[in-house]
Amino acid sequence: MVSSLDGFIAKKDGSVSWMHSKDTYQKGIELSDEYVANFLKSIDCYVMGSRTYEQAIELGWPYGEVPVFVFSNRALKSDKKSVRFLSGDLTQIVNHQLKPSYRNIWMVGGTLLTKEFLRLGLADEINITIIPTLLGDGKPFFDDIGKELALHLKDVTPFKDGMVELVYGIKKD
Ligand SMILES: NC(=O)c1ccc[n+]([C@@H]2O[C@H](COP(=O)([O-])OP(=O)(O)OC[C@H]3O[C@@H](n4cnc5c(N)ncnc54)[C@H](OP(=O)(O)O)[C@@H]3O)[C@@H](O)[C@H]2O)c1
Repeated sequence: MVSSLDGFIAKKDGSVSWMHSKDTYQKGIELSDEYVANFLKSIDCYVMGSRTYEQAIELGWPYGEVPVFVFSNRALKSDKKSVRFLSGDLTQIVNHQLKPSYRNIWMVGGTLLTKEFLRLGLADEINITIIPTLLGDGKPFFDDIGKELALHLKDVTPFKDGMVELVYGIKKD
């Protein structure tokens, strides 16, 4: 997830135009095309809610041919061969359909589906990139998960443009 420092992942109207940084932090590393390409190469499939999917279609599909699983209770259709729509028991689907076939499953968002994954204990890691901005209002990432989750800080990467990537492992009870 990409988040503002005050914990919002999109504005109330869903807009994400604030999701870049013009800041400068000399000690950070360069977010080069190569860095991004290597990072993306590690992802075996994407999972997302239908609103995030619809926004991706509107803004320009960034997932190439990598398999994308979209959760929806509507009868949606896609002309993309890499897209499949899913509904039903999330735990069953993740453990019996996705995990046996894909190693690195990347939950893209948005908040509704991500919070269900956290609540159900289906996420192993939280990877959050903080944009140096306070949005003041918007769609919050972590409100009302409804349970306490202990985390383990696995990695911190500051970038030259002032963004900071934090990777946390989620401790299982
Ligand atoms: N900052 C970031 O990194 C980031 C990343 C991703 C998205 N976003 C933002 O997040 C916003 C969208 O998030 P959102 O929370 O509004 O929506 P969302 O999580 O993308 O999608 C919600 C939809 O997913 C489906 N869904 C959720 N749980 C389900 C379940 N258990 N079974 C079947 N379907 C299920 C439902 O679809 P139906 O209504 O079709 O049944 C629900 O309406 C956008 O503004 C996007 O820009 C930000």
